[in-house]
Amino acid sequence: MRMWLLSVILPGLLLTANACSPTDESVKTEETPSVPNPEPNHDSTSDPQSASDRVLVVYFSCTNTTKGIADRIVETTGAAAWRIEPEVAYTSEDLNYNDSSSRANREQNDPSARPAIKGKCDALADCNVVFLGYPIWWGMAPKGIYTFLESHDLTDKTVVPFCTSHSSGVGSSDTDLHRLATGSEWKQGRRFSGNESKETINNWIESMNLNFNHNTKAGAFDLSKGTNGNAPTIKLSSGYDMPIIGLGTYSLHGATCVNSVKAALAAGFRKIDTAHMYGNEEEVGQGVRESGVPREEIFVATKLYPNQYADPEAAIEECLQKLNIGYIDLMLLHHPGTDDVKAYKAMEKYVAAGKIRSIGVSCYYVKEINDFLPQVTIKPVLVQNEMHPYYQDTEVMEHLHSLGIVTEAWYPLGGRGHQKELLNDPVLSEIAARHNKSVVQIILRWHLQRGVVAIPGSSNPDHIKENISIFDFSLTDNEMMQIAALNRNEKHDWY
Ligand SMILES: Cc1cc2nc3c(=O)[nH]c(=O)nc-3n(C[C@H](O)[C@H](O)[C@H](O)COP(=O)(O)O)c2cc1C
Repeated sequence: MRMWLLSVILPGLLLTANACSPTDESVKTEETPSVPNPEPNHDSTSDPQSASDRVLVVYFSCTNTTKGIADRIVETTGAAAWRIEPEVAYTSEDLNYNDSSSRANREQNDPSARPAIKGKCDALADCNVVFLGYPIWWGMAPKGIYTFLESHDLTDKTVVPFCTSHSSGVGSSDTDLHRLATGSEWKQGRRFSGNESKETINNWIESMNLNFNHNTKAGAFDLSKGTNGNAPTIKLSSGYDMPIIGLGTYSLHGATCVNSVKAALAAGFRKIDTAHMYGNEEEVGQGVRESGVPREEIFVATKLYPNQYADPEAAIEECLQKLNIGYIDLMLLHHPGTDDVKAYKAMEKYVAAGKIRSIGVSCYYVKEINDFLPQVTIKPVLVQNEMHPYYQDTEVMEHLHSLGIVTEAWYPLGGRGHQKELLNDPVLSEIAARHNKSVVQIILRWHLQRGVVAIPGSSNPDHIKENISIFDFSLTDNEMMQIAALNRNEKHDWY
């Protein structure tokens, strides 16, 4: 304690409580994040539907420094947050650590002090990982944290303490708390400066291999965040954000493919979908590299084909080499098939190695996904299936969403040989005329309002632009119902 005060006073800083904002500290107490474990520590037997695979950030913060770190953890994990509010708010006099009789100092000196806090944290019941944040007060957590722990049940939860301070490290502020929640698994605490980067926080979270699903709202997109040429993203269960509309590249080859990718990126698309089977991964990679858009802003998905499942490592290496864009954002299995689990497990290893960020599958329906899930460690973030107004597959979509898995539509506009009929559909044409939009735009908007990601393919720059200009209108509930009624359960391809 004394050391900290001396280090504050000696440089003549004479801080008051009003000056509780972070300073540039010279004392760095963080450990270097460890290399991720090659075998992610997920419990493959756990029920993927369980709401308790969730993460929550609980924090106490008087001058919002700790809140800033809590916000970044929320952004990274999609966690819910709960702020510990004292019944009686702390004034700046209360926080004056230079005054030995200030409220905060008295509480920290009194082992039995338990300042009352407002309300109860109901969200705790739904989570298994709790990030617990606080400012360091005289080398300890504020006593409001003690009140919180004594009034809540954290049994069987993983607790990850984090703190902010002027210069002190986490010290024993975290281990002092262990006796207040003995049934919890306590991780080592970590101290952050107020201006810690999101990347540092992300690395720290990744390094712990915590067993939780990022809070993906798989079937609901916040479309109000989109503007024409700038699509909103959804947080995948891997923690990565993915744009909800992308360019499909099936049948695009050579210069046409490269130019389509570039046109899409210029129009504002930030997601490109390819596959080994399309034979254009090199062109897609080239388009990405030549686009002038920074790599990290682009989300590239590719797929392994069943004839590659027997030797998946070689197949993944081939994709990485052909794309030549560093890492792959998303890799899918193209279809169920012999050795699909083996191939998926190889993809899991590449996730651990950081060469693939997220993994999923394609053409898996209720039975296929239910059979598959117990055999793998990382839940697929996404399933890509045929979906369009004539084949809505609502049951499969709802099943996937209930598992926290995003659904994505291939053939979003009806597919080869069928597009014409769909684009001339009288119901869709009438809705399009009402909104002064094209039928294509109506169908794409319908997918997104339904909570389904769409990847329309096109090599025509005008069409590409049109496809991402669907954020200035919305379909009414009635129109959504009219389109729902068009379903014929009519599949347009065999798988
Ligand atoms: C009563 C009190 C005691 C403090 N003790 C320490 C300390 O021991 N070491 C330190 O580096 N900072 C100390 N600080 C500074 C806070 O830890 C720092 O300003 C923190 O980031 C504030 O977080 P907040 O904005 O979330 O409340 C203390 C602040 C107060 C009010």
